[in-house]
Amino acid sequence: MLKSTFDHKTVQFEFAKRSFKSFVESREHFKPYLKPEKTPILCMDLQGIKSRYIELRYHFSNFNIYYAVKANDHEKIIKSLAELGSHFEVASSQELDKVLDAGVSPSRVISSNPVKPPEFIEHAHKKGMDRFAVDSFTEIDKIAKVAKRARVYVRLVVPNEGSDWPLSKKFGVDVDTAVELLEYAREKNLIPYGITFHVGSQCNNFRNWFIGIRTASELWEKAKRRGLKLQMLNIGGGIPVRYSYEALSIEDIAYYVKGLMQKFFPILPHELQIEPGRGVVGDQGMMVCRVIGKAKRGEDHWLYIDTGVFNGLAEALGGIRYAFYLEREGELREWTIGGVSCDSMDVVARNVALPEPEVGDYIYILSAGAYTNVYAAPFNGFPIPELVFP
Ligand SMILES: Cc1ncc(COP(=O)(O)O)c(C=O)c1O
Repeated sequence: MLKSTFDHKTVQFEFAKRSFKSFVESREHFKPYLKPEKTPILCMDLQGIKSRYIELRYHFSNFNIYYAVKANDHEKIIKSLAELGSHFEVASSQELDKVLDAGVSPSRVISSNPVKPPEFIEHAHKKGMDRFAVDSFTEIDKIAKVAKRARVYVRLVVPNEGSDWPLSKKFGVDVDTAVELLEYAREKNLIPYGITFHVGSQCNNFRNWFIGIRTASELWEKAKRRGLKLQMLNIGGGIPVRYSYEALSIEDIAYYVKGLMQKFFPILPHELQIEPGRGVVGDQGMMVCRVIGKAKRGEDHWLYIDTGVFNGLAEALGGIRYAFYLEREGELREWTIGGVSCDSMDVVARNVALPEPEVGDYIYILSAGAYTNVYAAPFNGFPIPELVFP
């Protein structure tokens, strides 16, 4: 009988290798950054980010794209997207100011964070922003106090199953509460404007969009019966990127969403919004770091790198499984990858198939463009990865 030489370690390593090769082979200008003197660095492809945005525009042709600044707030990224006509979603005064500094009109900015610091609402309103998400009566009171006649949109809770970074436990309300909130906003002299939901970040489950859009249409109809004329539907973020496994494509999600819109919203809202973060920048960045140590602890083989969960890889603590690659051949072994800090929580990945590394080897972490440098702190004195735009 023919014995397969392909075990799961080989499959995993070959997947990472293919991701690495396709990333660098299409980016000649990245070559000088593959063996930097100083590590860690985060190499971001600005042209690639623009291409992702254009791809989103092309496939979600009925939607305005509001880039979720939280995914990566570097001013070069904001400026490039602003030049292409992007809209923006922000959660803080700092994010808003960065967007405005790039020359974006406040009329192209929204805040979908359902619970905002009062100072931010006031600052945003003063700067000319007037669209805010809500999911509580308290938030409506806060907005009514400082942002007269602002437009508010309500956040629905939807399932986040199959999303590697779920968001719905913290925010969102059911349809009946949402109607009450919109009516309360009207009483408070705010403008009931629309509906939003978030399917969970890194969503690889079409069904979440199905439930989200179906629930939104239910709310839309109920609101209409109460004399609330909503204008906007925002379908949140959630577009996934490839990590150590494949991801749904923008094209497939857009095709599916288009079908759902035809079914549940035969008359389209005045404005359709999508607010992707990871889907714009996630796979356009690669972290380059180095091996700083190795150890065998019981049965486990450990390798240590010069970055970690506090210095950019925080999402490894949740559900994100990065692809790691190192340029060596040889027998594969499963490694536990420890971060640079002296904290035991700082474990970046387990069961990662790699050939035997040596101290000083470069390790490439693919799809590290979103929620990495923005999360990072110089804990234990170790630096935040420097962003470079080859
Ligand atoms: C309100 C809101 N909108 C958009 C996003 C972006 O989501 P994603 O990065 O999954 O596209 C997030 C992510 O946390 C969010 O909280």
